[in-house]
Amino acid sequence: MRTLLIAGNWKLNPTTAEAASALAEGVKHGLGAATDVHVAVAPPFVFLSQVDRVLEGSPVGLSGQDLYWENAGAFTGEISGPMLVDVGCTHVILGHSERRHGQGETSAQVNAKLKAALAAKLIPIVCIGETKDERLAEKTEAVLLDQLQGSLADLSPEEMAGVVLAYEPVWAIGTGLTASPEQAQSAHAFIRGWLSRTFGEATAGRVVVQYGGSVKPDNAVELLGLPDVDGALVGGASLKAADFLAIIKAGQEVAARGKS
Ligand code: 13P
Repeated sequence: MRTLLIAGNWKLNPTTAEAASALAEGVKHGLGAATDVHVAVAPPFVFLSQVDRVLEGSPVGLSGQDLYWENAGAFTGEISGPMLVDVGCTHVILGHSERRHGQGETSAQVNAKLKAALAAKLIPIVCIGETKDERLAEKTEAVLLDQLQGSLADLSPEEMAGVVLAYEPVWAIGTGLTASPEQAQSAHAFIRGWLSRTFGEATAGRVVVQYGGSVKPDNAVELLGLPDVDGALVGGASLKAADFLAIIKAGQEVAARGKS
C-alpha cells in the first residue's frame, strides 16, 4: 500500500503570523512522532519561515502553495523553488484550481513549474479536476486527460514516481459537496490507468494520488479507504488543528487496517 499523504492547504489563511504559529503548533503536538501516514501543511509564503521553526523536530512536511519556473531575476511578486527550499519547504502545490480558474494558469505553465520543482528537489503536488459544468456535460475524463497530458508532459517514469497528484473536483472545493465514493474512485482509477499506459504499471503503482474537495473528519475514513485514493488535500478543515488531526487519524486507521 502506498503511504497516505494528508496535506493541509491553508490558502489565504490565517491573517496573522501568531495564528499561523498556533495552528502549526496544534498540528505538531497532536501528531507527535507518528510517521504511519505522511503529513504536510501549506501556509501562505510569508509565514513559511516561522512555521518551519515551529515544526522543527516534527515529521510534518512544509509546502509552498505555488512557485515560479525561473529561479531568480526580474519577476515581481514571484517565489522560486530554491527560495522555498531555503525556508524549509519539502513540498509545493502546483496547478490548484484556484490558480487555473482564478488566475488563468495553463497546464503548460503548470508543467514548467513542475520541472522547476523537481529541479529544486521539492515534492510537487499537482492538482487536476473538472468543473461542475464539465462533469454535467460528461467531460470529466476528457478534462482530466487534457490536464494530465499537459501538466505532466516530458517527465521520465522516475520523475513521475516522485510526483504527487491531487484530484480535486472544482465543484467540491469549499462547497461542502464531496464526490461520492463511486465518483472519487472512478476518477482515481482513470488517473491510475492513464499513468500506467503512459509511464508503465510499476510507476503508476507508486504514484500517490490524493483526493481534495470538502474532506472533513466525518467523510475521511470512507474516502481514504478507497483503493486508488492515497491521501487528502484538505482546505477548510485544515484550518482547525482538531479537524485536521481527526482526518490524519482517519488516515492512520486506514493505514493500520490496509486496503484490499
Ligand atoms: P476544501 O477542503 O475547503 O473544500 O478545499 C479543498 C482544496 O481546495 C484543497 O486544496
